[in-house]
Amino acid sequence: MTIPATEEVPITIRPQTASPPTADVPADAVEDVFELSGFAAGYGSFRAVKDVNLRIGEKRITSIIGPSGTGKSTLLRALNRMNDLIEGAHVTGRASYHGVDLYAPDVDPVEVRRRIGMVFQKPNPFSKSIYDNVAWGAKINGFRGSKSEMDDLVQEALTRAALWDEVKGKLGDSGYSLSGGQQQRLCIARAVAPNPEVLLMDEPCSALDPIATLRIEELMLELKKSYTIIIVTHNMQQAARVSDKTAFFNIRLDSKGHRTGYLVEFSPTEQLFTSPKEKDTEDYITGRFG
Ligand SMILES: Nc1ncnc2c1ncn2[C@@H]1O[C@H](COP(=O)(O)OP(=O)(O)OP(=O)(O)O)[C@@H](O)[C@H]1O
Ligand SMILES: [Mg+2]
Repeated sequence: MTIPATEEVPITIRPQTASPPTADVPADAVEDVFELSGFAAGYGSFRAVKDVNLRIGEKRITSIIGPSGTGKSTLLRALNRMNDLIEGAHVTGRASYHGVDLYAPDVDPVEVRRRIGMVFQKPNPFSKSIYDNVAWGAKINGFRGSKSEMDDLVQEALTRAALWDEVKGKLGDSGYSLSGGQQQRLCIARAVAPNPEVLLMDEPCSALDPIATLRIEELMLELKKSYTIIIVTHNMQQAARVSDKTAFFNIRLDSKGHRTGYLVEFSPTEQLFTSPKEKDTEDYITGRFG
C-alpha cells in the first residue's frame, strides 16, 4: 500500500537550478536541506538567537541542545515559518531550504509548513477521533481522494508512526483516550500524513516515560529513511543515541546586558560528546552548567 498522491497544490518554493557537480564533492555527498548563514530570530526588539551558521543534511537526524532560553524552539519554529504566527516575531540573515530563501516574498508559508512538519513537546491531539486526527493532516494538504484512499492514507501514516497495531481496532475512539506515548505517536502520524519532507520535533519525549521515549527514538531512526529530522532535546543521551550531528547553543550577554542565544558548536554527534571543540560545550555536556 502506498500513500495516494494528494491533489496538486501550487508550490511556490522553487528549487534553484542545481549547481553543476564539482570535482571535490564526493558522489555520495549528503545534500543540504537547510543552510543558515548569519541567521537570527527574535520577538519585537528582542533577539532570542543569533549568529546561526549551519547546514543540515538530507535524511539525517540533527539534535539541537543547550540550556533553557537559548532560542532552540525559536530557531526550530523559524525553520518552517511557524513563528510567523507569533505577533512581533522576526528573522534576519538567510535561511534557505533546498537553496531557496525560506523568507523570500514569493514563498508561501502554508506550503512551507506542509513540507516541513512539526511535532511539539506536549502531545496535542485534537478532540477528534484517532482516524480524524490523522485524516486532518492530509485534508489540510488539499487531499480530495475517495474514502478508501483516505483509509489507506490513515493506515499508512499510523503504520509509519508505529501506532497502527495498537489502534487499528478503535480508530473511532477519541485521540485523548490514548496513553501519552501513543498520543505523541498519533501526533507524529498526523505530522507525516501530509507527506512532508522534514520533521521538526521540539522535545517530543519530554512528557514521556523511558519506555515510550525509547519507542519514539526507534521510530525516529526508522523515519530517518524517509525524512530529514531536527530534534530539540534536553536529554543528551537521546541526542547521542539518535542523531548524526548535534548543535549546541548557549547564552551570551551583549553590551546592553541582553541575553541572546547563539550557536557555539555544530559537530558530528560522536565528536561533540567525546571531543568537543569548545570549552563551553565540554562544560555543558559534563554537567558543569545548564
Ligand atoms: N512568543 C514569544 N514572545 C516573546 N518572547 C519569546 C516568545 N517565545 C520565546 N520567547 C523568548 O525567546 C527566548 C528563547 O526562547 P525559546 O523558547 O526559543 O528558548 P528554548 O531554548 O527553546 O528554551 P527551553 O529549553 O526552555 O525550551 C526566551 O528569552 C523567551 O522568553
Ligand atoms: Mg524550547
